[in-house]
Amino acid sequence: MTRIEGLRTGNYKVLKDMTMGRLWHCRDKRPLTPLTAVLGKNGVGKSVLLEACSFLKDCVQSGVVDACDRRGGFSRIRSLGQEGPIELEIQCREDGESRAVTYELAIDCDAQGRPYVARERFGQEGEGQQHGKPVPLLILNGGKGRAWKEAQAGSTAEADVVELDDGRRPGIAVLGALRQYPRLVSFRRFVEGWSFSSFIPDAARHLPMAGPQRHLSCYGENIANVVQYMERDHPERLSNIVQRLAAAIPGTDTVGTETACDGRLLLRFRDSAFQEPLSVQQLSAGTLRVLACLLLIHDPEPPSLLCMEAPDNGLYHTLLDPLARGLRELASGRKGCAQVFITTHNPSLADALDAGEAWILEKGRDGFSTAHRASDNVPVRNLVEQGLPLGGFWHGGSLDEGAASRASSGRAKSASGPSAGGNDEQRRQE
Ligand SMILES: Nc1ncnc2c1ncn2[C@@H]1O[C@H](COP(=O)(O)OP(=O)(O)O)[C@@H](O)[C@H]1O
Ligand SMILES: [Mg+2]
Repeated sequence: MTRIEGLRTGNYKVLKDMTMGRLWHCRDKRPLTPLTAVLGKNGVGKSVLLEACSFLKDCVQSGVVDACDRRGGFSRIRSLGQEGPIELEIQCREDGESRAVTYELAIDCDAQGRPYVARERFGQEGEGQQHGKPVPLLILNGGKGRAWKEAQAGSTAEADVVELDDGRRPGIAVLGALRQYPRLVSFRRFVEGWSFSSFIPDAARHLPMAGPQRHLSCYGENIANVVQYMERDHPERLSNIVQRLAAAIPGTDTVGTETACDGRLLLRFRDSAFQEPLSVQQLSAGTLRVLACLLLIHDPEPPSLLCMEAPDNGLYHTLLDPLARGLRELASGRKGCAQVFITTHNPSLADALDAGEAWILEKGRDGFSTAHRASDNVPVRNLVEQGLPLGGFWHGGSLDEGAASRASSGRAKSASGPSAGGNDEQRRQE
């Protein structure tokens, strides 16, 4: 199982230069936690951050042209007023593996506005390596470069010279399909296993055609199909989900599906107070969201990474603590999913988070956002460790009002110290 330790976006919309967690050029930072929550005001880029993850997945799965076109084209994605390529960098580590791997992708566009893969680099930390770039396993510039089988990593003489036929497909997708590059294969599989949820109750209210489906789709329009799958293949798990739903929301004692004569699938809820079942159209948005969250949390084959957009939207405050616990349990890796990223606006959900799990995005005067960890604010961290809820600081404005600039001026002040501004400089030089 693999976990993301850190990520960086360059020229990705409002996230022109945003780093979270540990990367090879900032090894002194703490890695991202299994449950990572992104907080912040409207328009700071919380959704953009999850979108950047889905963009990377689409680049790997479908190529960079499709990935850009689905989002309105390269020029809509690149940060306004910028010239350079869109850059994504991610560091992750497999369970029990002492050496992290890093993937860097840069996408530019030609004179006709067609995107192409400008640069790619995949590497693995050397045993005990403390400084410098990871040992390369793949280096491509404009689709040409070298790849290494693990045993020969880094040795120029042992490299395979490679040239891709299609500049729109990343090498990680092409060479990551070949057995001789097992690290590339496992990284490609990891990224392809990511899943995204941006549940819309109204999407769940439409009546799909019957047919079991294993996983909830991004907007949740197949929720009835997933319940149908669970009824057939995992009835005990479904009854556990229904018990939890009934405990959370009065009047939802049973949930089941029924196929109408025209082949559509009806989702039925039963309240023991009434004889007649309730249809999905009659249910509250909050009830549907709780059901969707439970189906995601108890997915029998969960994704390698689950990114959830505002899972707490419209939920009663007493449900937020169990929600955070359920997501943390999912992200524990015990069920096959090793990490969950969520966005939220909700101080009550923040109350259920540790200061190390919460990241605050804040937009600067230049119109671009940066991220800082709630626990980097030492007084906040100390008070949260003593039991004060995190959401209170957010309410009071001490988490995101000028906190980023205070943090950066703190960094500037310490710039005379030994690691002065070293991280960015190190990345540029190397
Ligand atoms: N190409 C771009 N360059 C710079 N900023 C952008 C670009 N595209 C969108 N934005 C900014 O990103 C913001 C969208 O952020 P979003 O993730 O939707 O916010 P939220 O934190 O509320 O989820 C918009 O308000 C806009 O200011
Ligand atoms: Mg948003």
